Amino acid sequence: DYPKRIFSGIQPTGNLHLGNYLGAIQKWTQLQDNGENVVFSIVDMHAITLTHDPKELYDNVLKMTATLLACGIDPKKSILFQQSTIPMHTQFCWVLACTTTMARLAHLPQYKEKSETLKNVPVSLYIYPILQAADILLYKATHVPVGQDQVQHIQLAQDLAVKFNNTFGDTFPLPRSLVNENASQRIKSLRDPSKKMSKSSNDPKGTLNILDTPDALMKKIKTAVTDCTSKITYEPETRPGVSNLVTIHSMLTGKSPNQICSEVEELDTGKYKLVLADLIIEKLTPIQEEFSRLIKEPAYLQEVLQDGREKAMDIASDCWYEIQHKIGY
Ligand code: ADP
Ligand code: NA
Repeated sequence: DYPKRIFSGIQPTGNLHLGNYLGAIQKWTQLQDNGENVVFSIVDMHAITLTHDPKELYDNVLKMTATLLACGIDPKKSILFQQSTIPMHTQFCWVLACTTTMARLAHLPQYKEKSETLKNVPVSLYIYPILQAADILLYKATHVPVGQDQVQHIQLAQDLAVKFNNTFGDTFPLPRSLVNENASQRIKSLRDPSKKMSKSSNDPKGTLNILDTPDALMKKIKTAVTDCTSKITYEPETRPGVSNLVTIHSMLTGKSPNQICSEVEELDTGKYKLVLADLIIEKLTPIQEEFSRLIKEPAYLQEVLQDGREKAMDIASDCWYEIQHKIGY
């Protein structure tokens, strides 16, 4: 029996949007605040898989650190560290790569999807899920909060844990995915509710960034696509635009969609957008203020990462010692 430990990683890429916040980071802070044992990694090695700008990488790591802290990740309660500062991730990745096959990786959906658009496919894109498995197993994580799109990668981590345990003796718990994103909890683009809100969206007006000014947020929400019915109802299949607004409202407040619809019964979609915009601005303003304060304190952010590194290193080096011993290094 292994103690419960939650691991999650996030790439240090640009601005986060409200979908990232509601679908991932808000859940992380809730797990942390419920007293769970949590390890969060800013996965800068995953971020160089395709192309990247070396001048921006570390700035983005600090920016992500400031964002996570501003959103409520508390370095006293959680371990927050930069992946590349723990060399055992890559060392262990190699060991795991030696226990799996080309065939096992070839049909993973993210690889298939991304490699189709590339003329020259880097090896790193192919073995990306092995590095993810190394990230998770190195901390003997029992639970991994992920989106639906990552479930097959967690299954790979489970398979690699089983394979290692069977070959070299019991070492790893089987990590389970905590899928925090059932279909009804996916935030959609405000401009095209058939697509999810995403940083790579074609129409940036459909994406609410957590660092958008109140004016920008208000404008985007006012121009959100709805339909010709003015009543607020929650019918994701037939009224995806309005229902998306209700989903955002629901995830921000913890109220159920039905409760929200009955509370705003009197409002038409135009007035409802204003109410929702105020709520979003009220939620994001303190996060933005804290971010602005923290981003001016790079020395503090580095100290947080350094402290996180030490705590992560304690766990990772114990595990790596055990791995080396078992595989006969
Ligand atoms: P993006 O699609 O913007 O590139 P990522 O794939 O990097 O976002 O996702 C980072 C995290 O945010 C994941 O845990 C993912 O499940 C969550 N997430 C991303 N988009 C949404 C969304 N529209 N609604 C809910 N959660 C989301
Ligand atoms: Na994505």
